Amino acid sequence: MAEQSEKRGGFGGKLAAILAAAGSAIGLGNIWRFPYITSENGGGAFILIYLGCILLLGLPLLIAEFSVGHNSKSNPVDAFSKIRKGWGWLGAAGLISVTLIMGYYFVISGWTVNYAVASATDSIGGNYDGFFVDFTTATWAPLLFTYAFILANHFIIMGGVQGGIEKASKYMMPLLFAILITLAVYSLWMPSGREALGSVFTPDFSKVSGKTFLDAMGQAFFTLSIGMGAMLIYGSYFKKGTKISGTAISVVSLDTFVAIIAAIIIFSAGVEDVKGPQLAFVAMPKVFSAMPAGNIWAMLFFLLLGLAALSSTISMHEAVTSYFVEKRGMSRRRGAWLVTGIALTLATIASLSMGPWSDFTVVGMNIFDLLDNFTAIIMLPILGIMTSVFVGWIWRKDDMKAELTAEGGIDKATYPFIRFLLKWVCPVLVSVVFIFGLIDFINGL
Ligand code: PFF
Repeated sequence: MAEQSEKRGGFGGKLAAILAAAGSAIGLGNIWRFPYITSENGGGAFILIYLGCILLLGLPLLIAEFSVGHNSKSNPVDAFSKIRKGWGWLGAAGLISVTLIMGYYFVISGWTVNYAVASATDSIGGNYDGFFVDFTTATWAPLLFTYAFILANHFIIMGGVQGGIEKASKYMMPLLFAILITLAVYSLWMPSGREALGSVFTPDFSKVSGKTFLDAMGQAFFTLSIGMGAMLIYGSYFKKGTKISGTAISVVSLDTFVAIIAAIIIFSAGVEDVKGPQLAFVAMPKVFSAMPAGNIWAMLFFLLLGLAALSSTISMHEAVTSYFVEKRGMSRRRGAWLVTGIALTLATIASLSMGPWSDFTVVGMNIFDLLDNFTAIIMLPILGIMTSVFVGWIWRKDDMKAELTAEGGIDKATYPFIRFLLKWVCPVLVSVVFIFGLIDFINGL
């Protein structure tokens, strides 16, 4: 046993665990996705529903996922089957989902690098829409940036848990927070910024529908990296003495803080006219260009986006790599290359589906949108339901209690509440939101 845990590697301490897990959580989901989903769904009204999902569903599920990993000290597939035979498929389903997410997530990550470079060299020009469309629908340019990003990711993974992931998080996360705070102070300092904020955060309940709840829940799961093995594998690397509940609360707080601040930065720029996924890429360069030293601010913004993306993609990659290493007996080097190869292939398809292959659609969506929607709207809720069912109903009650209260750090008085959330509230609420939201979504297709 001792030999095995030495071979597996792990985080050096509590802070490293928090930084790495917060790195997984904080990503494009917070800075790119959250602001535009919020603006499409009634601003403040959406944020209230979202916060409800984070607290009632996201936090308990994160605790559950950390616990499964920590208890079994295994890759996502073995983790579930060690606790209950026959449940390895749940880990496998998570790994398949995270692989599909990598397919499009790496493409957007590549865009951030191009935008950081183009901002630094002041080469976006005045045609922001045109630049975005020309770049993202081209064949080679987006691919090259995406490949560069995937390779950066690969070399961090090759460095191992402590030498790669932990070290990268230790440098990247403080830098990310420094840039975030600088940009927030700067945007709130401008009077126009403060005005625009009011309009965005004021709740508009007329825009709330069944789909709003599904979007809020999907966003909560996505931003906390739930159900896909990423948090599970990080939980398995926690050092003895790292409290699961405390770590989960820190991660959820940091993640929510970043999402709200990112929305403040973006909305204070007064960008209501640009909606959807283009918000960060089209509207922000435009706003920055009107500011003194705008290209530096723009570069910082895209650097922020890129760092956030990198700390998230390493957790996705690690979850799948750990499976090939531990379950398939590959060396870390081979396992990492295999995952990198799969990521390169899927990202190539997703990137080309924006341009040369855009005629190929399934239910009206290109491959890029299909990967995004299928994982966020269908896989995430299902994985959320099954994870809570597993922890609440399948895991032996005493074993789960021991894990959560002793190692997990949850006191005996709070434990029944968490258990109630996982056993009843999560499966029921997620199922209801999933079914009604899906009906809404299908009607809207
Ligand atoms: N939580 C990340 C974000 O908000 O961008 C996305 C993510 C990371 C999803 C890791 C899934 C995952 F396994």
